[in-house]
Amino acid sequence: MRNIAILASGTGTNAENIIKYFSNKNTAKVSLVLSNKRQAQVLKRAEENNIRTVFFEHKEFYVTGKVLRYLMLYKIDFIVLAGFLWLVPENIIEQYAGRIINIHPALLPAYGGKGMYGEIVHKTVLTNKDKESGITIHYVNKFYDKGDIIFQTRVKVDPSDTPASLAEKVHSLEYLHYPKIIEDLVVKLPDFSFKGPDEA
Ligand code: GAR
Repeated sequence: MRNIAILASGTGTNAENIIKYFSNKNTAKVSLVLSNKRQAQVLKRAEENNIRTVFFEHKEFYVTGKVLRYLMLYKIDFIVLAGFLWLVPENIIEQYAGRIINIHPALLPAYGGKGMYGEIVHKTVLTNKDKESGITIHYVNKFYDKGDIIFQTRVKVDPSDTPASLAEKVHSLEYLHYPKIIEDLVVKLPDFSFKGPDEA
């Protein structure tokens, strides 16, 4: 049984969908939900599903190592970003090489980078009169939305779409695919081993 941690900053509908998907699996479970926003709805959703939550501040992510300590404490094998808006620090990326993924609500490399998230992405797709959008699931590296792409799928954009209706279509794709991709990846993982200073 692998332990998954979710990092999220917002509403957390993907996080809840992933928690529910793994609630009756013997491959993996969501063991920890961490957020950089104390009031984020994702924390309430996780608590309602009896998942342990952790709030962290900027320096606890980038300087003091609190987040990495929690990941170690709960023996986390795999990290899932679901609406998380900060870059992951290099020490976590090194410890979790090939074990951190993100979902982006567009077809990367289009509409990626700092500041491109959620509704802003959908508004830009509509402003540009694109005929299609979609989702991208990718590995996380030290740059915004630049890690290797694992999976993409498309959805038609209609002339009548609004940012909200496009967000709904994209969310549906996310709910359908993200948990399955996570499962495909975690079942293939070798045991996690903490890398010492020479290996990390
Ligand atoms: C999702 O659509 C996800 O793709 C997007 O934030 C939304 C979170 O929704 N992520 C990004 O834009 C990352 N750049 P949720 O909180 O309801 O799961």
